[in-house]
Parts: sequence; structure tokens; C-alpha cells
Amino acid sequence: MIHAWLARNPRADRTRVYGPAQRAVVDAANLPDIGMLGVVDKGPTPLLALPALAERLGLGEVRVKDESQRFGFGAFKALGGVFAILQFMASHGDRKPTDIVFTAASSGNHGRSVAMGAQLVGARCVILLPGFTSAEKEAAIRARGAEVIRIDGDYDTAIVECRRRAEEKGWTIISDTSWPGYEIVPRDVMRGYTILADEIVRQWPQAPTHVLVQAGVGGLAAALIGYIWAVLPQRPMFVVVEPRSADCWFQSNAAGGPAPASGDAGTMMGGLACREISPITWPVVGLGADWFMTIEEDEVMPARRQFARPLDGDPAIASGPSGCAGLAALMRVCANGDARRALRLDRDARVLLINSEGNLGEAAP
Ligand SMILES: Cc1ncc(COP(=O)(O)O)c(C=O)c1O
Repeated sequence: MIHAWLARNPRADRTRVYGPAQRAVVDAANLPDIGMLGVVDKGPTPLLALPALAERLGLGEVRVKDESQRFGFGAFKALGGVFAILQFMASHGDRKPTDIVFTAASSGNHGRSVAMGAQLVGARCVILLPGFTSAEKEAAIRARGAEVIRIDGDYDTAIVECRRRAEEKGWTIISDTSWPGYEIVPRDVMRGYTILADEIVRQWPQAPTHVLVQAGVGGLAAALIGYIWAVLPQRPMFVVVEPRSADCWFQSNAAGGPAPASGDAGTMMGGLACREISPITWPVVGLGADWFMTIEEDEVMPARRQFARPLDGDPAIASGPSGCAGLAALMRVCANGDARRALRLDRDARVLLINSEGNLGEAAP
């Protein structure tokens, strides 16, 4: 461990090939067709270059995949829940959508995606939200025709409650996280996310040397790390970023297998407020990430501000607290000599960040 907030992955082996254990989680040869998602705007989200910020941080390049521009939805999650519902319908040809109730626990974005998918196929949808999800996110879920149940607790409590109600009422769970015996849907959700990883590979022929990706349960990290590891000849350095109070990946890395967060997940980064990892992602994230790190709550606003009010010539980017976590992490590492050297973040570094959400319902930074 370099710092209490930065730890190397002792299992990372840069010569490890992307094998069957990884392909069973994320299969790069099985990219979904975005046309399936029933959206009008099928274009890729932009990969924005921030040369002035790269110069200020002493890096070669910084590029941001801007998912705030994902077809009017405003977060990468649009790719997951919708696709998983379409897959469910395709593999259950005998089920009538009007007889199905889809359900999910969500901090906001995944629920909106599941609501969108249910609306698309004409099924009922019930989303369980933890107490902290904003009124704006709840309204956006309702606007897609879903019913909303508020849970007196956090995201992990909402999952327990979602499973209980689904069991009792015969609802179909579309979860972004997995548990023993429940793996097909979360795998489909990640398969949807691989669309964004494929776009990045096409948009950046020179390819990144470093990928900083924020994690909640690890679905986004698995899709991105898995796809890039599978298709690029040279594997970049992968850094997984979490809020300190929701450090389930950081703790799992130390434990050598799935382990709970050390804190209560009481973070403003709602999309990352998870106390447990998605266990199916372990062969990709647990073996493929090079570093795990945490960030502090007071590092979020400066990062959102940096995106919103950029240096001369760089584009402005609208981000929510979970969206800017990768930038907050990059700024943390670049401000610390040891950390920076350990991660080889120098003038030759080409850094990829994911702005995973826009600023729906967030106060201006
Ligand atoms: C905006 C945003 N970023 C990142 C994440 C983390 O994704 P995952 O839970 O797949 O790790 C989420 C999850 O809800 C999110 O909403």
C-alpha cells in the first residue's frame, strides 16, 4: 500500500491473457447492436480531449468519455437495464410483456434505465429507491411510467427488499449486481455497457495508457476493463476508484475476494454508494485492475467545478458527483508525488476518464 487510499492489486499480472474465466463475465466478441435499444440517437457519446488540463497536471493527454450526452438519458446506465430487458424478452419468447412486472433496486440511474426498457416492451415496472436518491431522479423514473417504492435504508438494503418483494409477488428482477444463482441478468447489463467501451476503442486509435474508472458494484469497471483488456494489444494500467465510505472493491482487493465496505456508504456519490461488490465481476476486476483507490467527499466538488469551468480551450463538461469521481481521483494522485510515480502518471501518460453521469437534479458546482 502506497497510502491508506491507494493499494496495488497483488494479483495483477500484466502477462495474464484474457481467458475463459474473464470471457464468461464480459465477452468482447459479443457486442450488442445499439440499434436494438430502440433509441433514435444511436451515435457514440463524445470522447473529449482536455489538453489544457493535461498540461496543468503534467500529463500527455486527458480524454473524457462523456456519458452525460448518452441519448438524452444523461448516464451510461441507459445501455445496461434497457438491453437486459430486451434480452430477457428475447429469451422468454413465450411470456407476454403485459404479464410481467420488472423490478430493480437503484440509486437512481439504473432504475431509470429499467423503467425505460419496461416502457419500451410494454411491461409494468416497480423501482425501489434508497432514501438518499434525489426527488429529480425519482421524478425521471416515474416519467418513464414506473412505480417507485422508497426504502428506509441504503442501496444494499433496497436490494434485499427488492429480492424479498420479487419473491413474494413473482416479479422479475433486472439487477445490475449479482449474487449466487443470479448472474444472467447482471451479465446482460454489463454486455450493454460494453457498447461504451467499444466506442472508446474506435474513437482513440492510439489508445489510453491509463484508465481510471469509478466503481459501485463494479459492473461499469468490469465492462470497461474486460473489453479493453480483451481487444487492445497493450493493456493500459487500470485504476478502480471509490468513495472512502463505500470502499467494497478496495476492501475486496485487500481480502483477496469479495468483502464488504469498511464504511456505511454514506456518500454524496450516490451511484457509487454500494457496500458489496457484484461477485461475478471478480475474475475481470479482481484480477485485471492494477490499483484500487478511494477519494474523499471534499474532492468531489473541485472535480465537478473543474469539469464545468475548464481551463482555456478545454470543453466544459456537466457531471454529477459519481460522474466526476475519476477526475477527482486523477487530481488526488497528481497532487501526490509518491502516488504519481507509482502510477507512472507522467508526460507520456494518456489518461481515460469516464464522466458516467450528467448533473440531473444537482446544484451547480
Ligand atoms: C453515474 C454512475 N457512475 C458509476 C456507477 C457505478 O457503476 P457500477 O455499480 O456498475 O460499478 C453508477 C451506478 O449506479 C452510476 O450511476
